[in-house]
Amino acid sequence: MYRLLFSLVLSRMDPEDAHHLAFRVIRALPTLGFGRLVERFTAPEASLAVEALGLRFPSPFGVAAGFDKDGFAVRGLGHLGFGHVEVGTITALPQPGNERPRLFRLVADRALINRMGFNNGGADAAVGRLSRLARRAHRPVLGVNIGKSRVTAVDDAVGDYERSARVLAPYADYLVVNVSSPNTPGLRGLQELDSLAPLLESVRAAVGATPLLVKIAPDLADEEVLRICDLVVRLGLDGIIATNTTISRAGLRTPASVVEAIGAGGLSGAPLAARSCEVLRLIRGRVPAELCVISVGGVETADDVQERLDAGATLVQGYTAFIYRGPLWARQVNQGLARIRRERSTSSAALTD
Ligand code: FNR
Repeated sequence: MYRLLFSLVLSRMDPEDAHHLAFRVIRALPTLGFGRLVERFTAPEASLAVEALGLRFPSPFGVAAGFDKDGFAVRGLGHLGFGHVEVGTITALPQPGNERPRLFRLVADRALINRMGFNNGGADAAVGRLSRLARRAHRPVLGVNIGKSRVTAVDDAVGDYERSARVLAPYADYLVVNVSSPNTPGLRGLQELDSLAPLLESVRAAVGATPLLVKIAPDLADEEVLRICDLVVRLGLDGIIATNTTISRAGLRTPASVVEAIGAGGLSGAPLAARSCEVLRLIRGRVPAELCVISVGGVETADDVQERLDAGATLVQGYTAFIYRGPLWARQVNQGLARIRRERSTSSAALTD
């Protein structure tokens, strides 16, 4: 059904307009009065619940940052079966993002390229909304992802992040320092240890007891990933999110001329899966078992999510496949995870018989 809607309608629309349309429907779900009804059909099985970061996640599977930049649709996304929603990236100052077009589908690759540029209403504007949300008992776990305002010089990044962290941490179940989006000039340079250490230390001091994670790029060299792991452990952070979108264009099915015409931006979806998984394995091999590692990048099916969990992910997130799979995606993933668990417990019971 969704496949038909996608091929006949959505794929012919501008990708950002299609996103806004779908977003409006998801955002309206709780107010339409049948959100709870939808939830009866989509709620993850209790056996999928994960304890992490001192929180209970109803499912290991959640929505990655960028889908709900300002936190308008968190409850609606929860109704669709996502166990957590990471809102943002939110910046200290409101900003319009880059000029459109800035979102492109690579259908043959089940991928997207985006150069949104952190379009969002700013930290102060998010406070009222997130504080109301935080008070609700019935909602998904709420992550808040923060980034540098575009007009803030890279040298002043610490104060900019610190301000967002101080304003937003009281309403976040966990907070994420995003230093890995390719669409804000100079941002990814903050992953260099000389910049990252003081940044994370300052944000750590600003957030108090709120769990703090850092989100990294897939384009880092392996040694850089390992050095960030050591820093995260040394500073006592709570976790790492890997990975953001890539600037690589390797191995795409979409003709090179089409890809070139799209221009700059971060590539997400299926082509990112192998590197994202590789980075997860690197991190898991380096950090203590209790550190929360959230894997994101190219997951589409329950088997993909289970592969990340088996490789040591505490939680898994996705974004791009939502566009290709539609509103029942989280439900399909949760049902698939529950099925895999049943099959595994049956076969291990058979082995011990
Ligand atoms: C993103 N992503 C992203 N990440 C982030 O930390 N802050 C952001 O604002 C955004 N914005 C954003 C917009 C769009 C249109 C896309 C497709 C992606 C990256 C996202 O959270 C995720 O890390 C990657 O997309 C990889 O996961 P998927 O999409 O392959 O499941």
